[in-house]
Amino acid sequence: MTLPGDERGGSSSAGAGLSSPGAGVFSGVSAGAGAALVAGDSFHEMWRELLPIGRHPDSGGYRRFAWTAADAECRDWFKAQAESRGLTYELDRNGNQWAWLGDPAAGDAVVTGSHLDSVPDGGAFDGPLGVVSSFAALDELRGRGAQFTKPLALVNFGDEEGARFGLACVGSRLTAGQLTVEQAHRLTDGDGVTLPQAMAAAGYDADAIGPDPERLARIGAFVELHVEQGRALDLSGDRVGIASAIWPHGRWRFDFRGEANHAGTTRLVDRRDPMLSYAETVLAARREAQLAGAVATFGKIAVEPNGVNAIPSLVRGWLDSRAADQDTLDTVVTGVEKAAREYAEAHGIELDIVRESFTPVVEFDHALRDELARVLGKTGEDTHLNVPVLGTGAGHDAGILSGSIPTAMLFVRNPTGVSHSPAEFAAEDDCVAGVTALADVLEGLACR
Ligand code: GLV
Ligand code: MN
Ligand code: MN
Repeated sequence: MTLPGDERGGSSSAGAGLSSPGAGVFSGVSAGAGAALVAGDSFHEMWRELLPIGRHPDSGGYRRFAWTAADAECRDWFKAQAESRGLTYELDRNGNQWAWLGDPAAGDAVVTGSHLDSVPDGGAFDGPLGVVSSFAALDELRGRGAQFTKPLALVNFGDEEGARFGLACVGSRLTAGQLTVEQAHRLTDGDGVTLPQAMAAAGYDADAIGPDPERLARIGAFVELHVEQGRALDLSGDRVGIASAIWPHGRWRFDFRGEANHAGTTRLVDRRDPMLSYAETVLAARREAQLAGAVATFGKIAVEPNGVNAIPSLVRGWLDSRAADQDTLDTVVTGVEKAAREYAEAHGIELDIVRESFTPVVEFDHALRDELARVLGKTGEDTHLNVPVLGTGAGHDAGILSGSIPTAMLFVRNPTGVSHSPAEFAAEDDCVAGVTALADVLEGLACR
């Protein structure tokens, strides 16, 4: 059992350099209110620029993994956006990128942002929507002539998805002290490259990583806008929602070890085939989750020697499980572990189970959540914008930071609910409504 969670149950003018794109990435651009036009144009332009980066030509999905060339391109994009707006650009000790309006050292800063990395063949919206919306919201506020009384920072957190090193939210976890330097140094990708090696190869000083309490102490509130990863808003008919809580969730690695042998000549009774107990465990996970009203997924697998005509010596599968509360999650995972051990024993298989990461339930800051609802509700009197409050089974940097600073989240409608897939989508009208809502929230928090 390892890793985090074990420890704890001067500015240029508005829209500088931006112009309306000639070709639409989306169809059906809203005419909207006048105020939405700055947000919409700015959003559209940025979206169009970011769209090709890291997109796989065959799958159409994104492969923006931490410290790779695609990640570097995304980071270059973020830096260029910051600089084009005259913001103070900063790369922190953990590889997170910051763009400051106002004095970063003044304290009580309002921060917004998300991440630019992706899962394997991920969608365009998970992460980038929050980062692009942050810049667009700033453009919108400048367009409104907003007067900032607090520093505002836009942030791109590094390695949120954990696609390469297996642990989600590495940048925010390190910053919040929820991942120790020693643990981070042990993170290794599928090719045996360690996190420090990958960071060094990308030109970063991996010796600098570690907790950053001084930075967090300068932040008064963090608001992350994110595409919804379910259909609650679609079903309620609302463009934008506010997050209440994040389900507790974790990742467990199951190593089933048997004996490699010839697929054609080894009698069935003589085999020690780990694939069998793995397959039975996948079914057990589905069963346990269904019984408990939770979710459990084996979405990643590694097989050795991985030959069509060889009985495997090792099947390594990763379980991702989440539930509304801790007891339910414990019940599911305990049930899956028990079943896996029984199946392994029955087939003469050695089994090791390691919890690789865990994030306890996150209840977002009530005062901040109520403030978002108040600001957006007020806006809603004019625009009929409803703001439902919803929970989610998806993890976010906002969830990690909530242990250290007041955090809140805004969700933007996803008409199919599909996420972590190239099919992930949000309509441009809804994205622009999200930007406007974020601008309203930031104005309420940073301009009063
Ligand atoms: C991140 O998107 C997660 O929920 O795994
Ligand atoms: Mn994600
Ligand atoms: Mn995300």
